Amino acid sequence: MKPKSKILIIHGPNLHLLGKREPDIYGKLNLDEINHKLTRIAEDKGVELEIFQSNSEGEIVNTITKGNYDFLIINPAAYTHTSVAIRDSLLAVGKPAIEVHISNIYKREEFRKKSLVSDVVIGIISGLGALSYYLALQGASEYLDSNS
Ligand code: DQA
Repeated sequence: MKPKSKILIIHGPNLHLLGKREPDIYGKLNLDEINHKLTRIAEDKGVELEIFQSNSEGEIVNTITKGNYDFLIINPAAYTHTSVAIRDSLLAVGKPAIEVHISNIYKREEFRKKSLVSDVVIGIISGLGALSYYLALQGASEYLDSNS
């Protein structure tokens, strides 16, 4: 039997506060609830899933550059707009990736409209709440099916 593909999901800074943090923007679901649904989707799709949350840019870079996965789904959160280090690590490992945002970053403050990672990933899903993650996981699984 073919080994399962592995998808890594990274949640960036402050996303551990989902549910409590600005619920009008980020919704009422907490990170455990979102991760639970992601785990169920992964089981359904027959893919292996690793989920990682960190508030530290260096830890995120270390996790990306381990490279022990086939596809990356990343919500870099505030680092989206500032992190050359995360951008460089995506380029260094060269794994296919989707950038996810819960809110629509193009509908908010000017500084959020600039992403340093958008042009080094396959695509972006932004503004659909927790559904942004679920659709990204579905997209990653279909991508892996048709590219392996
Ligand atoms: C976010 C959008 C970012 O601008 C913000 O800093 C976040 C979350 C989102 O998921 O909508 O922390 O990435």
